Amino acid sequence: MTSTPTVTVPTPRETGCPFDVPKSYRQAAEEGPVVKAATLTGGECWMVTRHAEVHAVLSDRRFSADAMLPNFPLMTEELRKMVGESRKSAPEVDDQEHIRRRRMLTAEFKGKRVEALRPQIQSMVDGILDGMIADGGPVDLVSRFTLPVPAAVICLLLGVPFEDHEFFKDRSGVMLDFQAGPEAMMKARVELTEYMNKLTAEKQRHPDEALISTLLTKGELATEDVAGTALLLLLGGLETTSSMLALSTLSLLQHPEQLALLRADSSLVKGAVEELLRYLTVVQNGLARVALEDVEIGGQLIKAGEGVLCMLSIANRDETVFPGGHELDLQRGARTHLSFGYGIHQCVGQTLARAELQIALETLLRRLPELRLTVPIEELRFRDALGFYGVEELPVTW
Ligand code: HEM
Repeated sequence: MTSTPTVTVPTPRETGCPFDVPKSYRQAAEEGPVVKAATLTGGECWMVTRHAEVHAVLSDRRFSADAMLPNFPLMTEELRKMVGESRKSAPEVDDQEHIRRRRMLTAEFKGKRVEALRPQIQSMVDGILDGMIADGGPVDLVSRFTLPVPAAVICLLLGVPFEDHEFFKDRSGVMLDFQAGPEAMMKARVELTEYMNKLTAEKQRHPDEALISTLLTKGELATEDVAGTALLLLLGGLETTSSMLALSTLSLLQHPEQLALLRADSSLVKGAVEELLRYLTVVQNGLARVALEDVEIGGQLIKAGEGVLCMLSIANRDETVFPGGHELDLQRGARTHLSFGYGIHQCVGQTLARAELQIALETLLRRLPELRLTVPIEELRFRDALGFYGVEELPVTW
């Protein structure tokens, strides 16, 4: 790499509007579609800032998502060790095995199956809200609603006991938290793996109707790989969806005119969820790849072996695709956002996530017309250190 980096990834958000992306990212996007960046973990990579170029990288098989490759952005030695150990179950490899496993999963998460789940998701959302409303406000919406909803859904799908969801949240939080230190991160990973191995062995003895048993019955994966896949789904679907729900609620409360539109016409909810996915982009630090060959993207030659970070957060605000993209506009029609990635690693759970977000948001707003924050927004603690953007607690009443 030649030029000097002018931006560091990840950069913490500035104080002020918690939904703004860091200024340095905006400046990088103005500089060009592909700019040199320094990573906080040491080293350099190319930062891809615009919609067309992010799309191009993610759909090009000459870029690999193999986290074990040298120069893989944001990779520390600790993470490399963790990825190495979970290699078998992680679909970040791009080979035939990834395609085979992915196909197995997409069959379980496709449109018709998710549509059939909607009544069950609705009744879980209502049940969780019944309990919260019966206890009365103020409450922390994260622990009482935004986390239990995706936890209940994924536990039902996999056949995992819902009572254990605090354990997953806690351990997965530590596993992704650089500040917790390498030992704690590894320990959390091991505990989660052991838990899932035990549960999968139990399902082998006593199968049920849920996904872990289905995968075991199909017999296409070894037991430990079924356990790894289940863990991946559990972790992939929990924090992301919970953060999206919490930040969506918060951003609607901060945009009363947008909230009023949605309250007045609940048929807007599908489009609103797409816009919230775009505006909030919880996968805030970008998707990492390594070039396998020399490739030119946006006029920039990326050499074989160089790392690339596709910055979804800033590409989702690309003015040429989303005019006025730094603003929340529920009627925009934002379906082409990149929040679920693109290409062969595009989110397997996106149809499910959409259904959960649509049902949970519509129900929350309908049942609690007086929902409001109980503290000034400046007092909220945002989760910036993790890969996913989120808010620790959301104290509300109604
Ligand atoms: C709002 C919620 C969600 C967001 C924003 C999100 C985002 C993403 C993104 C950006 C990727 C691409 C990673 C890459 O290309 O490197 C991804 C992959 C993935 N997601 Fe999600 N996700 C969400 C919900 C879910 C749910 C509910 C599940 C499962 C039930 C899930 C399971 C997965 C899996 C298994 C992959 C890996 C796919 C592969 O590599 O082939 N996600 N997700």
